[in-house]
Amino acid sequence: MPGSGFGEWVAAFEAERERREWIADPEWEHGVELPAVVARSLQKFQVGENGDGANLRAKADLAGDAAYSAAVRLFIDEERNHARLLAELLGAAGVPLLDGHWSDGVFVRVRRLLGLRTELMVLMVAELVAVEYYRSVRDGLADPLAREVTDRILRDEQRHIPFHVQRLHQGFGELAPSARPFAHLGWLLLALGGALFVAVDHGPALHAVRASRGRFLLAVVRHARAVGARMAARGGRTAAQALPE
Ligand SMILES: [Fe+2]
Ligand SMILES: [Fe+2]
Repeated sequence: MPGSGFGEWVAAFEAERERREWIADPEWEHGVELPAVVARSLQKFQVGENGDGANLRAKADLAGDAAYSAAVRLFIDEERNHARLLAELLGAAGVPLLDGHWSDGVFVRVRRLLGLRTELMVLMVAELVAVEYYRSVRDGLADPLAREVTDRILRDEQRHIPFHVQRLHQGFGELAPSARPFAHLGWLLLALGGALFVAVDHGPALHAVRASRGRFLLAVVRHARAVGARMAARGGRTAAQALPE
């Protein structure tokens, strides 16, 4: 994983884009069998992945680091590709897309009100939830196309976590030392709330892929504790290097 400076992240995202173009799309024409509750759950995740990222791009530009701005653009491209892959998967299953979902509308509106650091803290919760969700769906479904799509998305989400950790480690360092423990605790509570919401809202789908709500919740919280420690870590060592993802 890239460790210092966002130029390395730009190179990593570009290499990933080339790899994506080279491997091409899964064969959608094979069709896919999805349990109805999983299809409904994926419809909501498809809405969540979809967005033009203009707000995040503008905030990243204000941070005044050209390499970071470039990396954020490539990161947004990956998220939009997730929306596209899920749309194709749902299409292959004959399931229509949702125009929107209230939970996503709230999520987007809240993020617009925030500065870059806080927005990334919220986004990080979404990444942690996404990692456990896509892992559960991939491991719990037998359909090869569904497994391939969720595996592709999962691998991207796993890389997104150290990318945000690196910027948030910097962001935590800019806070007054007395404010850092509060920010850390607040973020952990946010992660708990986000995981709880998804565990309840997507509980039937988690059950259908043999992943209980409790196990899902515990996995997100454990991961959040490790990631939170890296974001709030003191010292010169880059947080993204501190632990492998
Ligand atoms: Fe995503
Ligand atoms: Fe992501």
